[in-house]
Amino acid sequence: MLAARPPLGWNSWNTFGADVNETVVLEAAEALVRTGLRESGYLYVVIDDVWQADTRTTGGELQADPDKFPRGIGPLAQDIHAMGLQFGIYTCAGTHTCADRVASYGHEWEDARTFAGWGVDFLKVDFCNVPPGVDGPMLYHRMGQALRESGREIVFSACEWGIQQPWKWGRAAGCHLWRTTGDIGDGWESILRIGFRNVADWAAYGGPNGWNDLDMLVVGIRGGGNVGQDHCTDAEYRVHFAQWCLQASPLMIGCDLRQATAGDIALLGHAGLLEINQDPLGVSARRIAPAEDLWDWADLPVYRKPMADGSLAIGIFNLTERDRKFLSVAWETLGLRPDQPYRVTDVIAGQPLGTHRGSIAVPVAAHDVAVLRLFPVAGP
Ligand code: GAL
Repeated sequence: MLAARPPLGWNSWNTFGADVNETVVLEAAEALVRTGLRESGYLYVVIDDVWQADTRTTGGELQADPDKFPRGIGPLAQDIHAMGLQFGIYTCAGTHTCADRVASYGHEWEDARTFAGWGVDFLKVDFCNVPPGVDGPMLYHRMGQALRESGREIVFSACEWGIQQPWKWGRAAGCHLWRTTGDIGDGWESILRIGFRNVADWAAYGGPNGWNDLDMLVVGIRGGGNVGQDHCTDAEYRVHFAQWCLQASPLMIGCDLRQATAGDIALLGHAGLLEINQDPLGVSARRIAPAEDLWDWADLPVYRKPMADGSLAIGIFNLTERDRKFLSVAWETLGLRPDQPYRVTDVIAGQPLGTHRGSIAVPVAAHDVAVLRLFPVAGP
């Protein structure tokens, strides 16, 4: 299985946008190694849009912009591989990419061969400039087939923004991940829109080899880069990262790792949260019914992710503007027997919280989250 766990890596778009080039990609790869994030599992270094030249070669092949990638793509992929990393690139299902570069419509087989020849391990396929009347899912099926025939194992990442419910046909098309929404921005409203208001029926479809992709991370962007807005606070980045982990979303770092703070690196590399994200069961967390009849319960959601070892991972979110001293979760609402004792840990703090029966309450500040693991202990 090519994507038994959600793929982790770095993608150029959120920081560099159209200003991507060989130097920044190599420096991002070096930073993954230096910060230890490679050891945490962030393996894919993905070049997004605007790496291409304006035209194909006379032989009809895609080629890199010679100013940005003077050695071409193959040697860069080799350098990335030599660092113990995997190499990813981007194209589009339409005639041109979203930033108007040449793309793969009608060239799927030759482009898949080109990518395989360069040593590509991961391909993101966007959805701009698809000719009118052409069936979108069919284009992904076509590229999936072309990749299978390319002679190289390539993780296939669909980016059609969730508009045709790709969670329903993505696996059959050969996609290993599919975006669930439009583009993320570095701001609280964006995190709410993509990570909470939109978590619907697709949660049931994600799993090993076919993941719901909530879009690339904005942790550490801090208002800069290509998707800078009002920018998230540290607590809001925690909410974002915790929810992406609970949802078993692929995690593609979007910040400039050369300038990331120690706190941002610590969050991105948080072993307890990554363990939840990478759990082999691969279940996307589902929201549970509220325990109490709170007027603002919709903004105090609790998410539940069953883990392969029989424990539960729980996210207790405070999306309101007010700190809460106690947010409680009852075993019954989690689908657990009330008299069954559970050993509870606070995942983010890495602290044991003792053994509990029936329910647990924790403090959660405004725009923050508590992530717990509940491990069953010998019966009542
Ligand atoms: C968007 C896509 C972004 C990025 C951008 C590049 O359609 O959702 O993730 O790839 O295109 O132009």
